[in-house]
Amino acid sequence: MEPIHVVVTGAAGQIAYSLLYMIARGEVFGKDQPLVLHLLDIPPMMGVLEGVVMELADCALPLLNKVIATADPEVAFKNVSAAFLVGAMPRKEGMERKDLLSANVKIFKAQGQALDKFALKDVKVLVVGNPANTNALVCSHYAPSIPRENFTAMTRLDQNRATAQLAHKLDVSIGDVSNVIIWGNHSSTQFPDPNHAVVNIDNKSKKLSEILSDDSYLKSIFVETVQKRGAAVISARKMSSAMSAAKAACDHMHDWWHGTANGRFVSMGVISDGSYGAPKDVVFSFPVEIVGKQWKIVQNLAINDFTKSKLEATGNELLEEKTEAMAVCDAD
Ligand code: NAI
Repeated sequence: MEPIHVVVTGAAGQIAYSLLYMIARGEVFGKDQPLVLHLLDIPPMMGVLEGVVMELADCALPLLNKVIATADPEVAFKNVSAAFLVGAMPRKEGMERKDLLSANVKIFKAQGQALDKFALKDVKVLVVGNPANTNALVCSHYAPSIPRENFTAMTRLDQNRATAQLAHKLDVSIGDVSNVIIWGNHSSTQFPDPNHAVVNIDNKSKKLSEILSDDSYLKSIFVETVQKRGAAVISARKMSSAMSAAKAACDHMHDWWHGTANGRFVSMGVISDGSYGAPKDVVFSFPVEIVGKQWKIVQNLAINDFTKSKLEATGNELLEEKTEAMAVCDAD
């Protein structure tokens, strides 16, 4: 089989350290799909990146045909079929939200332009670097020759966290819980929605509401635990989630590449068509089903007033981020 080219940005960082190994082992694109990995980071990180390249070689992974480490976006994005955009400007102490946004607009503008020029036109782009939803929107804005549907943002870590919380609460295995939804932004306004979750219990598929009717848990403790999980990990580890973020990035791209099982859906930040009253033309996390590498927003789910109000809040935040980001784009 011909190798495919896959780029990971922020390749010298901590998420990439787990992610590269998982991709190169074949966990995303298949155990028989050879790969050429392109690693992009900024010039000061080239020394560290060299160490990562050495370790990848020492892993002796049969699917890994070649590794290209670079600080040049043209080399990084050349002929890629899939892009994991992990590198972003982190918030530094004293940094205003506006400055953070503007630094990231610059990064995702440059990478959008490079994707537009050098990547394959059906490239699948997953933005992990925060603010992930708006970064994905900016990236797509600067890559007009690539369909907007090919730019997505990661909310799979939130989905995995939510699924894990429910499995723990119900004392079932993680594989027995599915269809938990993350709506909106990958931020504290996201809404983890358990209302459509399905649980396998005693070999039967049941709606979560049939087995767990503890409204105070589902509406407050569950939602807050998921929303604040990132902060809890930072407080314990003194570093942000990396292994779980890498696993979620693999899950997201794996399902995009191979599709979702019948009746199962996953959450992805995708360009909004206004479904469920979400604002149009922002990257909004929806439940999606995937067939033939094309995602489709799951339609006709019943939405209660509580969910509606949560969707509105997270949608408003995404509109604000979009306005601020586009102001930076226009000023450039
Ligand atoms: P890190 O700081 O360890 O690594 C980031 C890497 O990106 C660094 O090596 C840095 O040099 C590089 N980088 C910065 N600008 C770049 C550019 N223009 N081109 C290429 N590389 C560049 O950070 P970590 O922990 O790996 O996290 C990366 C991003 O992922 C952060 O923005 C973080 O907030 C985000 N994140 C998103 C999650 C999600 O669920 N969407 C979950 C966890 C983290």
